[in-house]
Amino acid sequence: MNLSIFGCGYVGLVTGACFADLGNNVICYDISKKRVNSLKKAIIPFHEPGLDTLVLNKSNDKKLNFTNSIDACLKFSDVYFICVGTPQKTNGQPNLEFIKSSIQSISDYVDLQIKNKKNLSKKHIFIKSTVPPGTIKKLSRKLKSRKLDSFITISSNPEFLKEGSAIQDFMKPDRVVVGSNYQDAVEVIRHLHRPILWKSDRLLTVSPESSETIKYSSNAFLAMKISFINEVAKLSDAIGADINDIRKGIGLDKRINPNFLYSGIGFGGSCFPKDVKGLSYVYKKNNITPHLVNATMNVNDEQLEHFLKKIFAIYPKKSLKDKTFTIWGQAFKPNTDDIRESVGIKLVKRLSPLVKELKIFEPIARKNSQAEHSQLDNVSFATKISSSVIRSDALIICTECKEFWNIDLDIFSQLNDKNIFDGRNILDKSSLLSSGYNYFGIGR
Ligand code: UDX
Repeated sequence: MNLSIFGCGYVGLVTGACFADLGNNVICYDISKKRVNSLKKAIIPFHEPGLDTLVLNKSNDKKLNFTNSIDACLKFSDVYFICVGTPQKTNGQPNLEFIKSSIQSISDYVDLQIKNKKNLSKKHIFIKSTVPPGTIKKLSRKLKSRKLDSFITISSNPEFLKEGSAIQDFMKPDRVVVGSNYQDAVEVIRHLHRPILWKSDRLLTVSPESSETIKYSSNAFLAMKISFINEVAKLSDAIGADINDIRKGIGLDKRINPNFLYSGIGFGGSCFPKDVKGLSYVYKKNNITPHLVNATMNVNDEQLEHFLKKIFAIYPKKSLKDKTFTIWGQAFKPNTDDIRESVGIKLVKRLSPLVKELKIFEPIARKNSQAEHSQLDNVSFATKISSSVIRSDALIICTECKEFWNIDLDIFSQLNDKNIFDGRNILDKSSLLSSGYNYFGIGR
C-alpha cells in the first residue's frame, strides 16, 4: 500500500520507516528543507537505536522517500498519517496549528480535484499526534461544512512509542488502537498492521473520542504511577525503609506490577509533562476538577527539591562555592539524546550558580546538553566517565544509563568527599557503604 506521512519527527520517522519495513511504499513530508535533505542521506536528526540503519535500508530499497513538497505527499497515496507536533501552550492547552494546517492542505487538494472533475478515490486521514479528546469530532465537522466528508475520513490512530525503544514498540505493540466512525478506514489500519498483529488480535476499534482519551489517559496513568512511588519514596526516606524493596513488595501484586514504579528525581521528556498538563486542561474545559493529574505534576515538580535538600543537608549553601560535583547523565532517560523537560538539566541549572564547578558525563546527549548549558561558565563536559570524577568532591546521578549501573567501585575513590547522590537509585548501596562511601538515594 502507498502511504503518506506528514511530519518527520520521532513519531513520523519511526512510523514511516516501520511501515516501509512491512512492505509498504512510503513518502515522508516535512516542512524543514534541512531535515529532509539530511533524511535523504539517511542522517537522522536525533538518536533512536536502529533508526538510521532502517531508514538507510528502506531508502535503498526505494520503499521510503522524503520530500519537502506537500503536493508530492498528497498525490502519492490515499492514506495519510498526521504525525506533526502538538506543542503545549502556557495554560497546558496543546497547540493544534500544525494538525489544522495539514488537514487544510489535504482539504484544499481534494477540493481542487473535485473542481477539476478528476476521478477521486477516498482519502483516509489518521491522526497519530496526541490531540485533546474531541479534536477529531471538530475536524470532521469542518470537513462536513466544506462538503468533503464523503471524500475524506478522519480517524485516530495514537502511537505508544517510547524513545529509545520506538522501533520495537512499533513492531511489537501491546495494542493498536483505531478510533473511527468509518469501517473502510478501520480496514485500512487492520490491513497495515496484519504482519505485526497476526499472532493475536490486539487491534482495538473504538470511537475517535475514546481513542484520543486512551492516549492521554495511558500517559497520565504511567506518569501517576511514577509520582505515586516517588511520594512513597519520601516516606521511605523519613522512616528509613528501602524504596526498592517496597517497589518489589507492591509490584509482586499482579494487579499493580513493578513496571513504572522506579523512584528517582522525577519524569521528564516531551510526552509525560505535556500530556499530563494537556489532560488537566481537558478536564477543566469539561468542568471536571483534575485532582489526580494535578497531583501527579505537583509531586513531580517537588521531587527535584526533595533530592536537592539531600545535597544541601551535606553541603550547606555557603560551603558549595568551593565544591566541584560530577554529574552523570543529562538526557531525560537512557538511550536517547533528548533533553526536553529533563530533570537532570534542571538540576545543573539550579546547582551551577552555587558551586565552584560541575563536571558532566553524558554518554548520548552530550551535544544537546552542551548547547543547553553553553552560558554556564563553570560547567564542563568529560569525554570519558573516568575523567569526570577527577578532582571532584561528590557524584550526582541524574539519568539511569546502563553504563552507570555496574561501574567498577574504584572509580569513586577519586571523589574527595566520598559522597554519592544517586538520583535514580541504580547503584549497589550496601557495597558502597561497606567500601566506605556515603550513599544518598531517593527512598533508600
Ligand atoms: C512515554 C510513554 O512511555 C510512551 O508510551 C508514550 O508513547 C510516550 O511517552 P517516553 O516519554 O519516551 O515514553 O519515556 P518513558 O520511558 O515513558 O520515560 C518517561 C520518563 O519517566 C523518563 O524521564 C524516565 O526516567 C521516567 N521514569 C520512567 C521514571 O522516573 N520511573 C519509571 O519507573 C519509569
